[in-house]
Amino acid sequence: MHRQQPLLIDRFGRKVDYLRISITDRCDFRCVYCMSETMEFLPRGQILSLEEIFEITEAFVELGVTKIRITGGEPLVRKGAVELLEKIGQLDGLHELVLTTNGSQLKTLALPLKQTGVKRINISLDTLIADNFRAITRTGDLDQVLRGIDAALDCNFERIKINSVILKNKNHREVGDLVQFAVDKGIDISFIEEMPLGTVNQHDRSSAYYSSDCIKTDLTTRFSLLASTEKTGGPSVYFKVQGTQTRVGFISPHSANFCSSCNRVRLTVEGRLLLCLGNEHSVDLKQIIRTHPGDKNALKQAIVDAMLIKPEKHEFDIHEQPVILRHMSVTGG
Ligand code: GTP
Ligand code: 5AD
Ligand code: SF4
Repeated sequence: MHRQQPLLIDRFGRKVDYLRISITDRCDFRCVYCMSETMEFLPRGQILSLEEIFEITEAFVELGVTKIRITGGEPLVRKGAVELLEKIGQLDGLHELVLTTNGSQLKTLALPLKQTGVKRINISLDTLIADNFRAITRTGDLDQVLRGIDAALDCNFERIKINSVILKNKNHREVGDLVQFAVDKGIDISFIEEMPLGTVNQHDRSSAYYSSDCIKTDLTTRFSLLASTEKTGGPSVYFKVQGTQTRVGFISPHSANFCSSCNRVRLTVEGRLLLCLGNEHSVDLKQIIRTHPGDKNALKQAIVDAMLIKPEKHEFDIHEQPVILRHMSVTGG
């Protein structure tokens, strides 16, 4: 197979050059939109070893993937995460290694992460009020995350972005303060419409829906938002906050479907290659590497063939019980 031609193309002509890898389903937080109160995590025997994750990653890069985002659960709670990132960062052909984290470990890990070649970090932060932070994350400590964000700022990553999932009557009144926080720190922020993955038990998703348009309207009372054509390779549509360094992104799976430009697939820590966040179409890569150890061609062929079952789009309905039973923590978004 020749490296220069795009090899990962789906039935709709979309080129897949972005792989999101969930390296653990575990997390030190229990965010109400992501997990239910009681969660069972995968037993060790069922998850890929770090060596297996690397083997699969290498195959993807050889097939033309140029951007890799490491996610979880919370990726930094997995022992050996930094060492894995270091190895992935050295892969020839990879242009961008990025990370999505809840920020809880950044105080100690921001610098080692920078040294692995991670360029950009997305950090979840839904509120600046300590009690609300505890309520939304169930277990998290706001100060710990704020210290983590400052530690990341000290390391001069190319960009840092805050991710805020906005829920009506939980944090929707804070969107202006969150943008002001991003402006003060000189970083970006994306607002995310909640997606119905797995059952959650603390709120009703349809009454908690707060659309990107509502957020935009709220923000215009405090900020001047200028439409921008800038993209980061993900689904955010960006606006520049006039007179600042900050971009405000909107990720609107309900109000502005972005699937026609989808360029990504996901690897779960169980070794399942998921072709779409909002569908169950998948291929068991763990089974392939464990039944054909060391056979890179078998692995690559399975990945190329998987493109044929990539669905056209997600169809989320927040008014119905979730069709996708897997929680967001299994894929890291
Ligand atoms: P960059 O653009 O690289 O900064 O990343 P990103 O914002 O796409 O990634 P991040 O991990 O920060 O995810 C932010 C939100 O976007 C999460 O809620 C993800 O679930 C959501 N998201 C990312 N890709 C997709 C996708 O393909 N489909 C859907 N429905 N949501 C997505
Ligand atoms: N809907 C939308 N975003 C979610 N995230 C976690 N669960 C959900 C959900 N149900 C977000 C996290 C994190 C990103 C990877 O996904 O806040 O920032
Ligand atoms: Fe953990 Fe992120 Fe899920 Fe919150 S959203 S529970 S921080 S994986």
